[in-house]
Amino acid sequence: MAENLKLHIVMFPWLAFGHMIPFLELTKLIAQKGHKISFVSTPRNVDRLPKLPPNLSPFIDFVKLPLPHVENLPENAEATIDVPYNKVKYLKIAYDGLKEPMMQFLKTSSPDCVFYDFAPYWLGSIAVELNISSIFFSIFTAAFLAFIGPVPVLKGTEDARTTPEDFTVPPKWVPFESTVAFRLFEIKRIFDSVTGDEDNISDLYRFGATIEGCDVLAVRSCEDFEPEWLKVVEEIHRKPAIPVGQLPTTAWDGGNDDKNDAWRGMKDWLDKQVKGSLVYVAFGSEAKPSQAELTEIALGLELSGLPFLWVLRRQRGSADTELVDLPEGFEERTKGRGWVCTSWAPQLKIVSHDSVGGFLTHSGWSSVVEAIQFERALVLLTFLADQGLNARVLEEKKMAYSIPRNETDGSFTRNSVAESLSLVMIKEEGKIYRENVKEMRDLFVNKDRQDRYVDNLLDYLQSHRRLKGKTKQMEERENN
Ligand SMILES: *[C@@H]1O[C@H](CO)[C@@H](O)[C@H](O)[C@H]1NC(C)=O
Ligand SMILES: *[C@@H]1O[C@H](CO)[C@@H](O)[C@H](O)[C@H]1NC(C)=O
Ligand SMILES: *[C@@H]1O[C@H](CO)[C@@H](O)[C@H](O)[C@H]1NC(C)=O
Repeated sequence: MAENLKLHIVMFPWLAFGHMIPFLELTKLIAQKGHKISFVSTPRNVDRLPKLPPNLSPFIDFVKLPLPHVENLPENAEATIDVPYNKVKYLKIAYDGLKEPMMQFLKTSSPDCVFYDFAPYWLGSIAVELNISSIFFSIFTAAFLAFIGPVPVLKGTEDARTTPEDFTVPPKWVPFESTVAFRLFEIKRIFDSVTGDEDNISDLYRFGATIEGCDVLAVRSCEDFEPEWLKVVEEIHRKPAIPVGQLPTTAWDGGNDDKNDAWRGMKDWLDKQVKGSLVYVAFGSEAKPSQAELTEIALGLELSGLPFLWVLRRQRGSADTELVDLPEGFEERTKGRGWVCTSWAPQLKIVSHDSVGGFLTHSGWSSVVEAIQFERALVLLTFLADQGLNARVLEEKKMAYSIPRNETDGSFTRNSVAESLSLVMIKEEGKIYRENVKEMRDLFVNKDRQDRYVDNLLDYLQSHRRLKGKTKQMEERENN
């Protein structure tokens, strides 16, 4: 590619691995096309990212901006996995402290465009000032963006939703029948951070100001999966919403995979299980079940009689003192049939292992995409964030089954866990869930399709390049 057609792109994700990883996947796909990327995060986060394949390293620069210290944020906490849920707001305050360093970085590096997350609501105006194209990259689906609504609603100046109940019905700007809305217990769990408290900036406000300040929305979505929702997003924002594909996770471990001891033990055990028989249980890097939930999940797994591998988070960061415990005697009773891992585990390797037939998941979109990539049947138990809305989309399309729960407090029983698992894994009535995931695979993870989405995005960016002091003609003259 001619030098003057190459773009320099900055990526600036929120401090959560569920955000950094899809940003990194998009980074890798763009780097493959020969563009230069600066991936900006904090030192500890950059150090914890997965390794890059050597052929892409020359195109990707990791930029480490130290996270300012703020009161109430535990020492060394730089990502949501490092802090209990009720401390995430301090992480957001610290993140807002990156405004100055980020502005300096953009000024000195003068990129063509910046891709940023929902959290840095202040970045759009900086980009305008510096003539940098600004792209809000939504790791959330189009259905989620459509549900949360137009800018005035998000910023609370018009039709603001003020009670949890307001979030349990489809909004008026969705012009078709849909079940996509939160359930009462789902919104109640996240209500404080969604709407903010008196002096903190709410997530919805962040979304609103971020979308208002961007030139374009790039959405983790595909045209054939949710065309109606993409259309709503463009209509409510009157800005292009470019789908960038589902960005399936790709791992590169330098051919070292079997050197990791924890994984080797797990793999030996998985190798002994019957193909497609096992339930993989994991709720992402953020969700930690309560003690009551954990007990029902464990006893439900026990009742189901199915083999399982459970990656369990007992704690969120070392500052979290409320550890959850497995029921008494559980591990002995399920010995041989179950494996519980309480440390980090390589999810992609587990999901891709032949023995896995189903995935009991929180419905985080990266996990959903991974399940579909390897055709694993989906059983859902939502916890936080966008997970409830993701679940509705999958339920509507009969691509997943949610464990029945009490509408008010979200509680569920061991019996409903066991019955849901056996429905989706084994029973004839649950065949539709197994089949629909298989059918969706090509649409979600086909390489050529994913590649076309990235080409389309890059074409758009190249044809909408801003002038940075010099005109294009001046640049071309210099290059000749
Ligand atoms: C956010 O709220 C907390 C209390 O919940 C308060 O201590 C803090 O100062 C607030 N932060 C901002 C930036 O207003
Ligand atoms: C659901 O939970 C609420 C609150 O804990 C309780 O009052 C109600 O009886 C429960 N409903 C059912 C059907 O169990
Ligand atoms: C931004 O672009 C305009 C024209 O497109 C130009 O006049 C101005 O100098 C540019 N500003 C910066 C900071 O490069």
